[in-house]
Amino acid sequence: MRDQITGPAIRALKGGPGIRMVTAYDCPTAKIADAAGADIILVGDSVSNVVLGRASTLQVSMDEMVHHTRAVTAASPCALVVGDMPWLSYHVSIEDTVRNAGRFVREGGAGAVKLEGGHKRLPMIEAVLDAEIPVMGHLGLTPQSVHTMGGYRVQGKGVETARELLADARALDEAGVFAIVLEGVPDVLAQLVTKQVSAPTIGIGAGAKVDGQVLVFHDVLGLHDGDLPKFVRQYADLRGVAISALEAFFSDVQSGEFPSEDETYHMPDGVIEALLEDGPSDV
Ligand code: KIV
Repeated sequence: MRDQITGPAIRALKGGPGIRMVTAYDCPTAKIADAAGADIILVGDSVSNVVLGRASTLQVSMDEMVHHTRAVTAASPCALVVGDMPWLSYHVSIEDTVRNAGRFVREGGAGAVKLEGGHKRLPMIEAVLDAEIPVMGHLGLTPQSVHTMGGYRVQGKGVETARELLADARALDEAGVFAIVLEGVPDVLAQLVTKQVSAPTIGIGAGAKVDGQVLVFHDVLGLHDGDLPKFVRQYADLRGVAISALEAFFSDVQSGEFPSEDETYHMPDGVIEALLEDGPSDV
């Protein structure tokens, strides 16, 4: 049994062997992630498109995020569970932000929250930290900004945008976030950020020179049937395995090979005989 991992424990992993982070959205997948040694389980707002079948992350609500976070923490993982604050849960007011972050902890059982954005979100991040909730930052390609970014595009490719991203990372670091996700940025920029901040950086489409990596559970395990982004490495084809297994089950149903005698409950001796003596029956 591993020790329970906390936000400060993750911060202390800066510069060590890569931090292992993966998403999970329910109890069985959280158990799998934890058994595999995850340091952090992110209940990502990607639940919206990955599990709930919606167009993007913008359609998931606070109530739904809390619901999925509760399912993940029901697995009692040793990994730190991070609740991903959905769009509009930290954009309206500071009070709203703190209340929503608190819901992830009190109702969901999370040990930290993640929210997207840099300078613009600093007052919210500081308020959540003031409420004693560890915060993970998220910079670069922030999917909740898809409309203002003009699509899902790699960020920080120009001098000015790279400067801005570096300044955002330093500001989050100084505010006291315990880690920063860097998504969809050129590898050299991610490396520069990693050198300039004391919080560990966790990359997704940010190259190898960061302090850890995160991928979406369903992408790593091949549970999708669509195209995957270039930064995803698929380690298994669970969709294929699942389809083959279900085909075998359905085939056994139709051939009568399922269930077998061993998979069937039997009556103790004498009971059926007694029932038959009661009168006409088609047993
Ligand atoms: O919601 C999500 O899946 C994320 C990524 C960092 C994996 O935010």
